[in-house]
Amino acid sequence: MDDPVPEAADPKRDFSGKTPPASLLEWALPDEEATIALARNLAELACGRVPGGAPAGGRIHLRGELGAGKTTLARGLLRAAGVTGRIKSPSYTLLESYNVSNLYFYHLDFYRFSNAHEWRDAGFDELLDTRAVVLIEWPEQAGTRLPPPDLDIRLDYAGTGRRAVLSAHSEKGQLWLTYLSASRR
Ligand SMILES: Nc1ncnc2c1ncn2[C@@H]1O[C@H](COP(=O)(O)OP(=O)(O)O)[C@@H](O)[C@H]1O
Ligand SMILES: [Mg+2]
Repeated sequence: MDDPVPEAADPKRDFSGKTPPASLLEWALPDEEATIALARNLAELACGRVPGGAPAGGRIHLRGELGAGKTTLARGLLRAAGVTGRIKSPSYTLLESYNVSNLYFYHLDFYRFSNAHEWRDAGFDELLDTRAVVLIEWPEQAGTRLPPPDLDIRLDYAGTGRRAVLSAHSEKGQLWLTYLSASRR
């Protein structure tokens, strides 16, 4: 992750000389610290801090049952991105917003989401259009209203820990996964 990549990355370019673009990645998360470490890696990518990486911004869907670690991962990403102060779970408010040096972060949780008016009134369509980092828990509860994310992360219980399956749904997501898999070696 710290190795500088000389030129601006073309998502189709094989930047390492050997790693093909990744579209699926499994990540073992034996404890909460591992979840936060993954979140830190994602923050670097989403904030556009990786040399040669994609520009800041992107959408991440977080799926998995209650307690799987969706909020832990979102909070870890926001903290690593530079959000200070309390980071509340948006499970009651639907949306929590943050701003760190010109970059907006929207953390949504659709667990209790039920009606279409709520969607329109809250202006969700607009926030999906802006260049921002958008983290969405329970995206399946929004039905077909959500476009595919750059990256979909599914968290499952695995013994006393968790397991993440990351899948890319855009060129940006593929580029992120390629960097993530390289950062593990
Ligand atoms: N990799 C992990 N292994 C074990 N426990 C974890 C891991 N990641 C998070 N946790 C714990 O599991 C719980 C996850 O809660 P939370 O992040 O609110 O889940 P969700 O938002 O998916 O409902 C927290 O108590 C957290 O400390
Ligand atoms: Mg949650």
